[in-house]
Amino acid sequence: MGSRANISKDINVTSQTIVITGANRGIGLQFVKNYLNLGAHVIAGCRSPENAPELQALRKELGDHLKILPLDVKVQASVSAFARAIGERPVDLLINNAGIKGAVKQSSFEMDYESWMEVMDINAMGPLRVFQALETNLKTGQDTKIITISSQMGAMSFPGASNIAYRSSKSAVNKVMCCLAEDLAGDNITVAMLHPGWVKTDMGGDAAEVTVADSTAGMMKVIDALTFGDTGSFYKWNGEQHDW
Ligand SMILES: NC(=O)c1ccc[n+]([C@@H]2O[C@H](COP(=O)([O-])OP(=O)(O)OC[C@H]3O[C@@H](n4cnc5c(N)ncnc54)[C@H](OP(=O)(O)O)[C@@H]3O)[C@@H](O)[C@H]2O)c1
Repeated sequence: MGSRANISKDINVTSQTIVITGANRGIGLQFVKNYLNLGAHVIAGCRSPENAPELQALRKELGDHLKILPLDVKVQASVSAFARAIGERPVDLLINNAGIKGAVKQSSFEMDYESWMEVMDINAMGPLRVFQALETNLKTGQDTKIITISSQMGAMSFPGASNIAYRSSKSAVNKVMCCLAEDLAGDNITVAMLHPGWVKTDMGGDAAEVTVADSTAGMMKVIDALTFGDTGSFYKWNGEQHDW
């Protein structure tokens, strides 16, 4: 079921229900594999379950530890149907992973505005849409954590002026999640953002610095170590705090 070489066996998730968005490839799929390897119950949201062969194979192997549900985080009706399919089941960990980079034209001088809107819709609004649909499930979870896979590209402290649509969507989602952290402070729910590194996926490309296995294993350690005192914070995959 894929590599588990770097996954700490100290992470105890056997009693947890974990929701992962964008779960059919890249970082999301690796999270699914890793958490299943550790015995968690995983609900994998993806746009086309029928075109997700790796998830389907895992489902055959593991039966009811894995539920695969259709989810397009850009479409309210899809997010609502996703929540209805989960029903009243408590959710202990939500990983908002689904994301897109957007069109090639996204510089200060040339911008595909349609694509920018889509990037904002998926990357910045999607995580809040999913939270709102699962609010009750998350509030009934144990030591609930809401994790959003953000990016260093969204940090004001990180240089560079390319990919404006993508960068601004990650800056926006950081702020949205900081607001959510504040609003959930009375519920003891930990909200945090993670930069996964520059990762070898379809989005990151072959020249990227970090393997999917190392990135997810590192982020899982970070997620496991997070406490409510960390709510509203931004971490890198290797455990270092990220500057805003
Ligand atoms: N790779 C990197 O270097 C890097 C660096 C920093 C941050 N990140 C972030 O890490 C997350 C995962 O990225 P990745 O590298 O694994 O990218 P990826 O390989 O391109 O995978 C993206 C995933 O998001 C899904 N997705 C896209 N739009 C969606 C929507 N509207 N509803 C539901 N799912 C949707 C995709 O589903 P489909 O197969 O249906 O398209 C796919 O499963 C993203 O949020 C990304 O911004 C990545």
